[in-house]
Amino acid sequence: MTISTIERDGDVALLLIDSPPVNALGAAVRNALDAGLKALVADDAVRAIVIRCRGRTFFAGADISEFGKPLGRPDLNDIFAVIEGSTKPVISAIHGTALGGGFELALACHGRIASADAKVGLPEVSLGLLPGAGGTQRTPRIAGVERALDLIVGGAPIGARRAHELGLIDEIAIGDLRADAVAYARTMAAERRLPRIRDRAPDLDVEAAKIAIAAYRERNPRSFVGFKAPDLILQSIEAAVTLDFDAGLKREWELFEQAMATPESAAQRHIFFAERAAAKVQGLPADAKPLPVVKVAVIGAGTMGSGIATAFLNIGLSVTLVDRDAGAVERGAGGIAKTLRALAEKGRIKAEEAERRIGLLNTGTEIGVAVADADLAIEAVYEDMALKQAIFRELDQAAKPGAILASNTSFLDLDAIAAVTGRPDRVIGLHFFAPANIMRLLEVVRGAKTAPEVVATGMALGRKLGKVAILSGVCHGFIANRIMQTCVDAAQELLLAGVMPWRIDRVMTDYGMAMGVFTMLDLVGVDVIGWDRANSAGRTVQEVLCEADRWGQKKGAGYYDYDDRRRPTPSLWVEQVVRDFAAKSGVEPRDYSDAELLERLFYPIVNEGAKVLDEGIAQRASDIDIAMVTGYGWPVYRGGPMIWGDQTGLPKIVAALDARGADVSPLLRRHAGDGTSFTA
Ligand code: 3HC
Repeated sequence: MTISTIERDGDVALLLIDSPPVNALGAAVRNALDAGLKALVADDAVRAIVIRCRGRTFFAGADISEFGKPLGRPDLNDIFAVIEGSTKPVISAIHGTALGGGFELALACHGRIASADAKVGLPEVSLGLLPGAGGTQRTPRIAGVERALDLIVGGAPIGARRAHELGLIDEIAIGDLRADAVAYARTMAAERRLPRIRDRAPDLDVEAAKIAIAAYRERNPRSFVGFKAPDLILQSIEAAVTLDFDAGLKREWELFEQAMATPESAAQRHIFFAERAAAKVQGLPADAKPLPVVKVAVIGAGTMGSGIATAFLNIGLSVTLVDRDAGAVERGAGGIAKTLRALAEKGRIKAEEAERRIGLLNTGTEIGVAVADADLAIEAVYEDMALKQAIFRELDQAAKPGAILASNTSFLDLDAIAAVTGRPDRVIGLHFFAPANIMRLLEVVRGAKTAPEVVATGMALGRKLGKVAILSGVCHGFIANRIMQTCVDAAQELLLAGVMPWRIDRVMTDYGMAMGVFTMLDLVGVDVIGWDRANSAGRTVQEVLCEADRWGQKKGAGYYDYDDRRRPTPSLWVEQVVRDFAAKSGVEPRDYSDAELLERLFYPIVNEGAKVLDEGIAQRASDIDIAMVTGYGWPVYRGGPMIWGDQTGLPKIVAALDARGADVSPLLRRHAGDGTSFTA
């Protein structure tokens, strides 16, 4: 495939790069750019050069898949030296997204023109990196130190118009980008202008820059917890002020390499690819296209059903919320309207938009009426097989032929639900995580008979909803809950050994988890996790808590005590219960180190992940990582349990599990034995 072509427009030459899908700056593209630019610089008939890309976007950045391998020459800075050494203007003509190295290339040019809907940015921080091709040196020289901090530590791309205001883009194309770029290049050549950002000075002196950098850090403390790159970015931006341009560039590269070597960056790059891999369903026939979904019915107006309905309203679908209990429907619809209006109050959407979405909601108390014209009906009632089966019988009768019937069950057997219908090929699991309109994870559960196009529809809906859809097979708890349950079990076992809940939670949050197990149990309800009053006999700490009405936040007491603002404090009462259990259990009380506790809590997760993979419940190890990051607040900079297991060392994990007499997954044992890993 030809990567580069040259077009002429009089004395202006256009160097066109075509490397689908996103024109990433891999070795082949760099070589093509280098050769093309050198040839055009040397060509006396050319007075100005325009760099453009074919396809959906300008360069999306360095080729991330090349990271971790030795980077060949020419590197980006070599190419930029050709541009900056040119005696004729070189212009970038930007459409789509100019990101990372792609935007750095534009900044090395003499001029930048963009279409009005283009976006530019330096998102390296989200890969645990910093811009390594002059981004931290040129941005402060043109947009100022403070804007550079926002752009590079924040990492969010900005629109062309905003970039124009900041001086990062010189011109916005009014008509055709190509024609406007050629005209712009020709004018620059005629005016003999060769502005280079490298020749400018940053807007602040050393002292003022240091103050601005310290203030940024203070304003954004959370960006720096756990993540390594933001600190390195601050150092690199400081270098733009304290060093001359070439020394700054050198320092930036050193810091870039330092960032690249961190496990945090490896984890974040893993997540980047994991997210994209998750969307792909292995073995799905090419003709299995998503079915159209315009009308949705949600059965069950509780928290889950209302959240699901809100998620669909947010993407502009018409939703009917159904519940036999008229009061519940009213409360559900009221809650949805409140949530949407709150979005408007926070300025996230316009007030009219909130009202438009509310207008898309209908309510009803009869399944038969509500689902008659739905393309998709989602059941979200409480976890009771007989109830769900009864609802599915009714849905099957009432829904139009071909309509998809989905269950939001979080652990029941989807095949047993599908079996009561005359259309098991149209039955699927859509397992949302609470709050369903916010949490990014959606488990798309494929039953034994679910048709390929129904699977494709579930995955496509996930993407449309702005979620990460993960395909799961049928098993108790599916992927995320099943795996997390092993951690909950391990935590309960540690209670029996006298370790306090708050200590366990602290170890987990120190690792970076959004919350510890016991905080989580208090949040979802201590009673929810399989407690049965009739058979409760104080056998576990959990049972004792349930019997004492300590059901978590909703009762003002659970593993923790809560004040009226739901702030937790360790409970002396629970402490005594734990001590009593420990005394009875006969386990010798001893001190555990944090590292030991973490192993006890997380090695079972890696083990269960391996089982989920081995049984074919998850398609790939990276799906498990994504599920835990998006569903259970596993820190992005750790990359999820499977890559964490790989980084920790699988032989070490197997040895520890064996020592505890655990049922070790054969797949985990195989990887540990032959030195292979889950994620490499
Ligand atoms: N390198 C390698 N592959 C990339 C890539 C990159 N920079 N960017 C995207 N891809 C791949 C994706 O993995 C995906 O591959 P697949 O089809 O095999 O799954 C394919 O391109 C399409 O990507 P998306 O599904 O993400 O396509 P979208 O249209 O949804 O989004 C995008 C396009 C906005 C450009 C998005 O892909 C993106 O944000 N890319 C990453 C941008 C980035 O982080 N750039 C900085 C790189 S680091 C750098 O430049 C270092 C430098 O400073 C030295």
